[in-house]
Amino acid sequence: MQDYKSVLAEILIDEKTLQKRVAELGAEISADYPGDNLLLICILRGGVPFMVDLSRCITVPHMMDFMAVSSYGAGKRESTGDVRVTFDLQTNIRGRDVLLVEDIVDSGHTIASVLEMLITRQPESLKVCALLDKVERREAIVPIHYRGFSIPNKFVFGYGLDLDEYYRNLPFVGVVDLKKYHPE
Ligand code: IMP
Ligand code: MG
Repeated sequence: MQDYKSVLAEILIDEKTLQKRVAELGAEISADYPGDNLLLICILRGGVPFMVDLSRCITVPHMMDFMAVSSYGAGKRESTGDVRVTFDLQTNIRGRDVLLVEDIVDSGHTIASVLEMLITRQPESLKVCALLDKVERREAIVPIHYRGFSIPNKFVFGYGLDLDEYYRNLPFVGVVDLKKYHPE
């Protein structure tokens, strides 16, 4: 994998701005979910850094769980409507106030399918918190109740988002310069 600096076109959202927004979302969520019924569900793997930081900014008692999905027949950078669960929740979500935590909503197909599947398990409520929203790319209509940032239609990486599985650890969100990136 190339050094990220050689493929970074620009830093779109720096660490300070990210952390400030995450703290704001955490405060908002804490106010909206009094009691102890909140269950954060992280969609692996991109949602991990965001959910960990967000959870630390939520002041009400809550639980967390994880799930992984993959889409059939999709290219590496696009998804279709057919989403399959590859790693399921360990928690029974019936009666819980579920908040899905995602790194980015792009076409919206992933979130739309996950919502459709989770609603059948009868949670008390089901909402979506997405760090990034690529509005222009939306194909499926999905509600985003908590949104970190709306971003332009550019391929981004860092803070959970990967460049062919690398660089999820970067503390900022950067734009990939596709002219300089040479996948192996
Ligand atoms: P959707 O089903 O099209 O909304 O796809 C969302 C998923 O595609 C996200 O969870 C990401 O894993 C991935 N994705 C979409 N855009 C980007 C990007 O710019 N960088 C990295 N991953 C992305
Ligand atoms: Mg993802």
